[in-house]
Amino acid sequence: MGLMEGKTGLIVGIANERSYAYFIAESLLREGATCLFTHLPGEKMERRVRRSCESLGVDDPWLQPLNAASDEELDAVFKQIETDHGKLDFLVHSIAFADKDWLKEGAFTHTPREVFRDAVDISAYTFAAMADRAAPLMKDGGSMIAISYYGAEKAAPGYNVMGVAKSALESTTRYLALELGQNEIRCNAISGGPFRTMSAMAVGGFGKIMDVVAERAPLRRNVEGREVGDAAVFLLSNLSSGVTGQVLYVDCGFSSIVM
Ligand SMILES: NC(=O)c1ccc[n+]([C@@H]2O[C@H](COP(=O)([O-])OP(=O)(O)OC[C@H]3O[C@@H](n4cnc5c(N)ncnc54)[C@H](O)[C@@H]3O)[C@@H](O)[C@H]2O)c1
Repeated sequence: MGLMEGKTGLIVGIANERSYAYFIAESLLREGATCLFTHLPGEKMERRVRRSCESLGVDDPWLQPLNAASDEELDAVFKQIETDHGKLDFLVHSIAFADKDWLKEGAFTHTPREVFRDAVDISAYTFAAMADRAAPLMKDGGSMIAISYYGAEKAAPGYNVMGVAKSALESTTRYLALELGQNEIRCNAISGGPFRTMSAMAVGGFGKIMDVVAERAPLRRNVEGREVGDAAVFLLSNLSSGVTGQVLYVDCGFSSIVM
């Protein structure tokens, strides 16, 4: 029997077959989970995510449009889950956004107010906004995760305002864990190593970061998508029933060394 048998959850963040969320879904499905999905509004986005679901072996996915910046769309998604499934056991928040013009080396000091605000809104606040709507559906307890990066803690070239947003995301994780724990709902973050996805390519210094990890990380390589997927299974399954408010590094050990 799979570790996620009988559990139903929402996965937000598949853009294509390279997305971290895609690998997380792959591992969860392998362990028997029922996965529900969202796509950014628009036919093209829907087609793309539907194709990814098919390649995961889910031919008739539960799939709803969601721009997480909209409270109305968030309300609609969770209301539809309640209507169709009645409960939720897990939530995967795997989204981030910052205007790529400000993700260049040397650009941070000039970041405009609205760019800063939007990055923190989409990349961090939305985890709290989703948790607020998901928690009432987690009637038997539950587990939520968000995906962070080491740039939350240390300054990484070109990561800029996204690093600020990830610090906010990790702190949001701890405050959610504190408040939701009394209902046996756990909230954790995975700090994933650099991985070539659509979002990652928008970060100015990304290639350089990958090269440094491959050279210096204890495992002397970059992380694979399935490694983040399998860590997500751990955090979303009963295996981690005593773990909440934590950041789990899945980064080939890079965050554990000085040089
Ligand atoms: N790729 C990496 O190197 C890396 C490393 C550590 C953490 N992360 C984090 O992993 C998560 C997933 O990113 P990824 O690397 O898989 O890239 P990705 O581009 O495949 O996924 C990003 C997702 O965010 C979604 N998104 C953006 N704005 C949205 C909005 N307003 N509403 C709803 N969805 C929105 C996109 O549609 C996309 O599905 C992000 O939080 C990212 O910061 C990535």
